[in-house]
Amino acid sequence: MIRPWEKGDIPFIAEAEKECFPDPWSEKMIEATFSSRSFIGFVFEESGELVGYIGADYVFETADILLVATREKFRKKGVATSLFLAALGELKKREVERVLLEVRRDNAPAIACYEKIGFSKIGERENYYGSGVDAIIMEKKL
Ligand SMILES: CC(C)(COP(=O)(O)OP(=O)(O)OC[C@H]1O[C@@H](n2cnc3c(N)ncnc32)[C@H](O)[C@@H]1OP(=O)(O)O)[C@@H](O)C(=O)NCCC(=O)NCCS
Repeated sequence: MIRPWEKGDIPFIAEAEKECFPDPWSEKMIEATFSSRSFIGFVFEESGELVGYIGADYVFETADILLVATREKFRKKGVATSLFLAALGELKKREVERVLLEVRRDNAPAIACYEKIGFSKIGERENYYGSGVDAIIMEKKL
């Protein structure tokens, strides 16, 4: 089940961040982002358990995907795809025209997932994630 992200989800999302990333967002960082009026977010739940989440922010016609992950044991079942569909639909309603995201160059599963959803590479940022770890910038027009 997909539903809008609520304040009470933040501790669970912070836990999932630790599970999914070497450099997780802290609960405080997530809370500050969630409080922004231009934030949108969705969570995917299965039997009351949070299995995935997506968060984005937008300014005028451009949005950035800030957070997206599926907890390990629920991957490759379409969770991230469903979360993207929900988020992209909501952003379109808010008159967003283009969506950007950054991804580590070595994160092949995420890049494959984004390409499947319709994102294309538009640039790179060298050493964005620290020395020797470049980011790929991807875009999808809505
Ligand atoms: C990237 C991530 C969010 C994908 O989540 P997911 O719920 O497994 O994605 P989906 O099941 O919707 O997969 C959609 C498509 O992505 C691609 N994909 C997903 N995982 C893949 C993998 N391990 N290897 C290759 N392609 C993969 C496939 O094309 C897949 O479509 P298919 O199942 O029809 O082949 C998940 O792997 C994850 O949370 N990774 C750790 C956190 C992370 O890296 N987040 C992104 C930061 S930028």
